[in-house]
Amino acid sequence: MAKTKSIFYCQNCGAQYSKWMGQCTTCKQWNTIAEEIVSKKQDKNEIILPVDTKKSALTRLVDIDTAEEYRIDTNNKELNRVLGGGMVPGSIVLLGGEPGIGKSTLMLQVALNLPFNTLYISGEESPKQIRMRAERIGLNNNNLKLLFETNTQKIFHILQQEKPDILVIDSIQTLHTDYIESSAGSISQIRETTSELMQYAKKTNTPVFIIGHINKEGQIAGPKVLEHMVDTVLQFEGDRNHLFRILRANKNRFGSTSEIGIYEMYDKGLREIKNPSKILISSHDENLSGTAIAVATEGLRPLLIEVQSLVSSAVYGTPQRTTTGYDIKRLHMILAVLEKRMNFKLAAKDVFLNITGGIKIDDPAIDLAVAVAILSSANDMPVLSKYAFAGELGLTGEIRPVTRIEQRISEAEKLGFGRIYISAHNKINPINYDIEIVELKEVKDLNGIV
Ligand code: TYD
Ligand code: MG
Repeated sequence: MAKTKSIFYCQNCGAQYSKWMGQCTTCKQWNTIAEEIVSKKQDKNEIILPVDTKKSALTRLVDIDTAEEYRIDTNNKELNRVLGGGMVPGSIVLLGGEPGIGKSTLMLQVALNLPFNTLYISGEESPKQIRMRAERIGLNNNNLKLLFETNTQKIFHILQQEKPDILVIDSIQTLHTDYIESSAGSISQIRETTSELMQYAKKTNTPVFIIGHINKEGQIAGPKVLEHMVDTVLQFEGDRNHLFRILRANKNRFGSTSEIGIYEMYDKGLREIKNPSKILISSHDENLSGTAIAVATEGLRPLLIEVQSLVSSAVYGTPQRTTTGYDIKRLHMILAVLEKRMNFKLAAKDVFLNITGGIKIDDPAIDLAVAVAILSSANDMPVLSKYAFAGELGLTGEIRPVTRIEQRISEAEKLGFGRIYISAHNKINPINYDIEIVELKEVKDLNGIV
């Protein structure tokens, strides 16, 4: 007989409660807790195995084989890089991202390029729609099979016959298992179906890709439930109105989480960007006021980005501060530092800040370029386009050192910049470089530059 119980899950963070509450005590969101009736068939999960002492044997640390994990090449360099060298057999990879960002396109494109038997299971699009997408991408593959199905028991039935080399699920939110009665997309369904897929992956040694939608707070629905279960969590991000997409690993049991992959979405699918450092700089020859080039790093790769700022007299009583691709709180901080340390009157000014390309970068090394762009716009004094900047701004107005400075300097030099401004606290040897290096101690040293 089925056992029914009701559990309350926060639909935002996946926390579990025994009764309803207005606010989730874990993620502090209001009205996100919903009841889910979970009816489990007794024959599953209730079988208590006798303890088998023979199987749990101890191993000495030195005896453990450290040979590299075998990797399957995905034929997609950026994806390989983020996965840490390719797919690991039996691993389960979650690909998260906002709706419309290009998750299905990426997975289909990868599947179309694989020389293996791949099964693409979609609960979102019909095989006809997928065929049309494949035609748009301009690829074909006889080894790729499609299935429109959302019930995991039926899926496993087919998997038993098909035995694909690689499995893609689009998306986990559409799947449901017979063992649980709540609706597809609910936390308990997501957890149960993922767990079933995980067992399948481990038992058959098949790599499984699962697509998962992210809710508006940037979390994969029920992330705590999902993220700790899977081996790798990839996030596909970018601005839907821009071309560039970044693939990043938030968790990776088989590789580092500091690698990123960069793609460009064009009319025939996604294009890998092998040399991304210059893509985000718009080309203009004259020196315009309000723009500065920052040498950022994303993951392990240097990336030059253009910071644009517009400072104008406030029309309304309260001045506006608007940013795209940059943390607004950090902008407030930089404005406060400029006010206090450079006696700069920004209180009656509107400040707009834009990182070109629609990519959000967390690197604090772009602070210096942000400050320069603001000063340049406010003074209407252009910064020469051959100048690049890399430095973090401290609250006392000091220019703080940044990580991997040598790599940043070399990249700026390689891309033809004539001068780079860095922190005086970054210990480097200027003789090693042809590019002129100017060291700044504090934000006041920017006087005369802008
Ligand atoms: P999609 O992969 O359906 O997003 P997701 O699965 O993450 O929801 O991507 C849809 C968007 O990508 C859609 O707005 C159209 C765009 N697109 C292109 O620009 N070029 C292409 O070749 C394809 C297939 C899609
Ligand atoms: Mg999709």
